[in-house]
Amino acid sequence: MVARVIPVESFDLVVFGATGDLAHRKIMPSLYRRWKEGQIPDGAKIIGAARSDMSRADFQAQIETALTNFVAADDLDPDTLARFLAMLDYVMIDARGDDGWDALGAMMREDVVRAFYFSVAPALFGAIAERLHLRGIADRHARIVVEKPFGKDLNTARALNRALAAHFHEDQIYRIDHYLGKETVQNLMAVRFANILFEPLWNAQFVDHVQITVAETVGVGGRGEYYDTSGAMRDMVQNHLMQLLCLIAMEPPHCFEPDAMRDEKLKVIRALDPLHPGDLVRGQYRGAGSDDYLSECGNPASRTESFIALKLHVSNWRWKGTPFYLRTGKRMKSRVSEIVVTFKEPPHSIFGESNQWRENVLVIRLQPDEGMDLRVMIKEPGPGGMRLKDVALDMSFAEALGNDLDVPDAYERLIMDVIRGNQTLFMRGDEVEAAWAWVDPVIAAWEGRDDRPEPYEPGSTGPEGALMLMHKDGRRWREIR
Ligand code: BG6
Repeated sequence: MVARVIPVESFDLVVFGATGDLAHRKIMPSLYRRWKEGQIPDGAKIIGAARSDMSRADFQAQIETALTNFVAADDLDPDTLARFLAMLDYVMIDARGDDGWDALGAMMREDVVRAFYFSVAPALFGAIAERLHLRGIADRHARIVVEKPFGKDLNTARALNRALAAHFHEDQIYRIDHYLGKETVQNLMAVRFANILFEPLWNAQFVDHVQITVAETVGVGGRGEYYDTSGAMRDMVQNHLMQLLCLIAMEPPHCFEPDAMRDEKLKVIRALDPLHPGDLVRGQYRGAGSDDYLSECGNPASRTESFIALKLHVSNWRWKGTPFYLRTGKRMKSRVSEIVVTFKEPPHSIFGESNQWRENVLVIRLQPDEGMDLRVMIKEPGPGGMRLKDVALDMSFAEALGNDLDVPDAYERLIMDVIRGNQTLFMRGDEVEAAWAWVDPVIAAWEGRDDRPEPYEPGSTGPEGALMLMHKDGRRWREIR
């Protein structure tokens, strides 16, 4: 099944940091794939901006190499590639300097969407925003795209918001959380709000607890230096896991419009109870060679967590009393992102004590093997009387929708949404600040306790303490297979 592609309107997109890793790995490959699908109109311009002194031809050659590395060989035909490279231009700019801006302005066309992707360190956001504005390159209709990390705490996030707001309105600012661009994450909204089935049960009266797991097999690799100043709480929980939590816990918005969605997500974050110190477990993978966090991050004294598990409560009418358990870690047993909604026991069993009752569980698999399964009780076939058994109603999206369904990378969707001017899948400034406002005291508390992360074996399911976090409540994590 091939998804219908509607071309976007013509645009000029400037990528600051165009020679960097994100541009090579994600931004350019995503633009290439959208081009190949016919979504980018002829005449669109993609302008790389960076500090390196190179010609347009050098830049095109560099991007050609990046595409060869990061786009599947099947998708790279010479003609499409050549036409894509012909769209590229390059300008040498030092974000804090004065040169290059006029040249950039001269390259851009009037009367098309102008978008500026800040694929640079957050410390440069303010300088770029200011120059774009003062040099008259970005007007009231221009859009800017910024990446995470959006601050490392509430103060720094506020400062970034202020630096951008000095020159741009909120409706021009697209803060990326790439999880929101994932097909299956968007599907969460469809499952919840396009079906009548779940909504009546989606509350503390019927839901025993919710688990959100994002397990990765990769370690910190070459990003050790950055990661060690961040850790799983800042790198994954404050953004990706909190966004998943919001989509699961939010009230139905009145429409699928950016602010309607974002208002409801914000209410969830604001309703979070402060975290109890006993409801948090931090871990660090410790093994030999590159399987060891300390040697990978290059800091033998590091107390940064590469794993975190926590239990939180959303204090509102819908969720009072239903805990949400979140966990995420690197170098774990397998790569799994999933959400598990475990329902409560029926109020009364007519089948007697001898029957082993199991909860109804809805599992939403975000990656890999995207799909859903719903565990329900049935009668075990056979003449042995009324014996119950739990089975899975299992749906794999690939099977249901056709194995050739082309699932676009999150960045493809998000960049095209910037051009379309749709902010639904981007974080608003107040959301980001609310998430930091919740996270900051949690980090301050463990720093105040001089807490050390608990070691766990690479390739495992995380530290022992994470299992205990649920055991002490009489629950267990869904197994990571
Ligand atoms: C990034 C984090 O935002 O998300 C990385 O900085 C993490 O540490 C990555 O590995 C996970 O994204 P995905 O799409 O591979 O699940």
